[in-house]
Amino acid sequence: MRSVTFSLFLVAASVAADTFTEEDLKRWQAEYEQVVQKGEKLFHSTLGTNNVSCDQCHPNAANTHPETYPKFQKQLGKVATLREMINWCLQNPLEGKPLPLDSEAMIALEAYITSERRGVPLAPGKH
Ligand code: HEC
Repeated sequence: MRSVTFSLFLVAASVAADTFTEEDLKRWQAEYEQVVQKGEKLFHSTLGTNNVSCDQCHPNAANTHPETYPKFQKQLGKVATLREMINWCLQNPLEGKPLPLDSEAMIALEAYITSERRGVPLAPGKH
């Protein structure tokens, strides 16, 4: 009986920990926007070896379809993530090196691409 009460207390405490202030929201939004802006810069930069940038083929992140991942991608021969397709473009059209999947630059590119597709319904697997 005591342990049930204690468990309920823990649940209540963890729910309470999820409340946040207006200040929190403002700070988190600012941090998010900073990363999106960094991604936008990278998207318009020549990240590979041939002076080609992402926006030349994907203006405003067009045809990047983040909402369809994970999905089977024939270039990779498997069900892949958006980040793996970003790396495919870095290595092929841009003739550059892949980014570590958890690098700041990769997260920024993903943040920008996803932000441009805000509001599009999730459709994993869709072609
Ligand atoms: C020379 C043109 C070109 C450039 C430059 C280019 N891409 Fe692509 N991108 C393509 C092609 C072609 C595909 C393959 C389309 C397919 O088969 O789904 C593609 C696919 C993608 C996809 C998957 C799209 C989907 O519908 O699933 C993403 C994400 C992507 N590119 C991101 C990038 C990023 C990020 C960069 C810059 C690092 C970049 N691309 C640069 C041509 C380009």
